Amino acid sequence: MVEDQSSTVKEINLKSELEKDLSYANGQILSSMNCQAEVQAREIFIQNLESNLGDPALFPGTKNIESHVIRILGQLFDLPENGTGLILTGGSEANITALWAIRNNERDRKDLSNSRPLEIIAPQSAHISINKAADLLNLKLISIPVTKKYQIDIKKTKQAISSNTIGIVGVAGTTAFGTIDPLWDLNELCLENNLPLHIDAAFGGMVFPFLPNVQEFNLSFKLKSLISMTVDVHKMGRVNIPAGGLLWKDKTYPMAIEFTLPYLAGNPKQHTLSGTRSGASSVAFAHLWKKIGFRGFQSDVIRCIHNTKFLAGELKSRGFKIPIEPIINILGVQIPDSLSLSQEDFHIALWENGWTTSLVNGALRFVIMPATSRAHLSRLLSVIDQLLTDV
Ligand SMILES: Cc1ncc(COP(=O)(O)O)c(C=O)c1O
Repeated sequence: MVEDQSSTVKEINLKSELEKDLSYANGQILSSMNCQAEVQAREIFIQNLESNLGDPALFPGTKNIESHVIRILGQLFDLPENGTGLILTGGSEANITALWAIRNNERDRKDLSNSRPLEIIAPQSAHISINKAADLLNLKLISIPVTKKYQIDIKKTKQAISSNTIGIVGVAGTTAFGTIDPLWDLNELCLENNLPLHIDAAFGGMVFPFLPNVQEFNLSFKLKSLISMTVDVHKMGRVNIPAGGLLWKDKTYPMAIEFTLPYLAGNPKQHTLSGTRSGASSVAFAHLWKKIGFRGFQSDVIRCIHNTKFLAGELKSRGFKIPIEPIINILGVQIPDSLSLSQEDFHIALWENGWTTSLVNGALRFVIMPATSRAHLSRLLSVIDQLLTDV
C-alpha cells in the first residue's frame, strides 16, 4: 500500500516563496533576455492554456495559428513559400532541433557513419545550447575564436572545415554583446564546401529586421546555404515563455527527424523533441502582431537601442570602458580601473540595490528590454554615481 506522504513533506508557503521572485515589470531586470509579456499577449495566452500543438487533431485551429506565426516570422527573413517552422520551448530547444535535423540529413546525404566523429563548427560566442546539442547528438563541437569585433573569425573557420564537418552555426545577436557574425562570408564558406548554415538569431531575430540598416546584416533565407534559423518570440517578441521559434527553408528538411505518434488521433507526425507542447504562445504572438504589427515592434526595438546607447554614453563619461560598441540593446562594460572595487563586487552591489546585471566575458552586461525606460536608467545612473562616490 502506498503511504499518504502528505504529512512527511513539509508545508510550503506559496505566497511568501513567490514574494522572493523578481518582476520584469519593475524595469530593473537587466540580466535577462526574456521580457515582460505585453498585456494583450498575456490575456490571450491565459485563454489558450490547454492547447496542445503535439495533438493537432484536437487543436487544428491552434496548429493553423502556429503556421500563421511561422509565416509572420518567415516574412521578416525572406523565408520561401516552401519553408516551414515550429514554435518550441525556447532558443535552446530550437537550436538542438535544428542541429538534430542537420546531423541526420548530412549523415544520410554524405553517407557518413555514426562511428566517425561528425563535427559542427560554431563561434566561441555561441550560446551554451550549441554545446548541449553537440553533447546530445554525439557531435564534436569545433569552437572558432572570435575577432576583436566579437564575430566569428572567418579565416579560422575556413581552416577548421574537414571531411567530417556537417555544418556551420552563425549567431545573430550574441548572448554576451549582441554582435552578429559576418553571415555573407559564412554563407560563401558553406557554399564552397557544400555545407548547411544554421543561424542562431534567438535574440537578434526580433531585433535586426526592424533596423533601418537591416540589409547590411544579410539575415535572410536569400543566403543560399542557410537551412535553418532560431528566432525566439519570448525574448524581443514580447510574449510569455515558452516560445522559441525555429524556421526551416525547406519543408522536406525536418523529415530527417520525423516520428509518427501511433496512439494519437490522426497519427500525427512530429519533428520535435517534446510531444506535448503548448500552443498558447503562438496564439498570443499572432494576436500581438495583429494589434501592433511591424511598426509596433519596430518602435520598441528602436527605443530599446536608443536607451542602450544612452546608457553606454553615460557610463563612458563616468570612466567605464566599452569593449564592444553596442549595435543592438545589449551592452557590456568594464568598470573604471581607478575604482578600488572589483567588477564582481560592483555587480553584487548593483544587485543589492535592486538592479540585476550579469557578468559575461569579462564585462558587466546590461540587456535593455522594453520594460526599462529612460527614467529607469536615470535612476540606475544615480545608484551607480552613489557607488562610485562611496568607494
Ligand atoms: C543567442 C542565444 N541562443 C539561444 C539562447 C537560448 O534560449 P532559451 O533560454 O530560450 O532556451 C539564448 C539565451 O539567452 C541566446 O542568447
